[in-house]
Amino acid sequence: MDYQSTLDEICAELKPKLGMEGAVANYIPALARIEPCQFGIALRTRNGEEAWAGDATTPFSIQSISKVFSLTLAMRLVGEQLWERIDREPSGNPFNSLMQLESEQGIPRNPFINAGAIAVADRLISSGYAPKTEMLDMVSSLCDEPIEVDREVAASEAATGFRNEAMASFIKSFGKLDNDVATVLDLYYRQCAIRMNALQLARATGYLCRDGAHPYSGIQVISDRQARRINALMLTCGTYDAAGEFAFRIGIPCKSGVGGGIIAVVPDTLSLCVWSPALDENHNSVLGQEALELFANRTGLSIF
Ligand code: DON
Repeated sequence: MDYQSTLDEICAELKPKLGMEGAVANYIPALARIEPCQFGIALRTRNGEEAWAGDATTPFSIQSISKVFSLTLAMRLVGEQLWERIDREPSGNPFNSLMQLESEQGIPRNPFINAGAIAVADRLISSGYAPKTEMLDMVSSLCDEPIEVDREVAASEAATGFRNEAMASFIKSFGKLDNDVATVLDLYYRQCAIRMNALQLARATGYLCRDGAHPYSGIQVISDRQARRINALMLTCGTYDAAGEFAFRIGIPCKSGVGGGIIAVVPDTLSLCVWSPALDENHNSVLGQEALELFANRTGLSIF
């Protein structure tokens, strides 16, 4: 398949729509300044073929896409115990909702909503490893380039993260958070503030289309079963209250972030990342979704 032409066509088709719909996330002040009229798309196949178009090498804040990497790390470092504190059901609610935590006794619905990622961060801190270093080392190795945290974004989110503080405190009130709220949120904000570009993310998520094998070395990052489970969670929970709509329109496991990035994995075939900062009301990139829908339709790569 000529992926480069497909991405070039999608890019050319969507460029005229830049700036027409959606808005950048502004609840994190450092993200409110991002220029909305940007669009990039990149993919890497299971065999290492690459294609990219538009602003695919412009770095952005990966935000909730990092929840895939923290879950991967927790599967490696914590194992099955992880699931004692986190469920695996779609929430059908916004990513920062507190509602279900009360009736469900501090067990977050899944690892991809904020509450779930906070619970994962807590497990990582208790694992005895150094999760901040482990996370950056893992992501850098996966895309074969050094990756950094944007400290300004992390500080900006820490200064305004009242909902996340409430969520972490609420989980702790049920006895389901072992570490200090501040320590857990420090790790969580750092992972969200990782800066990467679409091409790096397409490369780094390659293990999810290769049964858990590292995209460059081929060494297992996680087992094939764990990789399948992450893809299942991305399909059912990766785009919050829009997960059903994503499955219906696109049919590829995806994970979005409020920086405007969306990663997508076609098992056994390719990993892809699209980025455009303007978001819809569910906090998913407007043009990112359109691009994925065009891609799925043109390549026939919906998993259904
Ligand atoms: O905690 C937050 O609100 C952000 N650091 C991450 C949110 C996010 O990316 C949700 N995605 N759509």
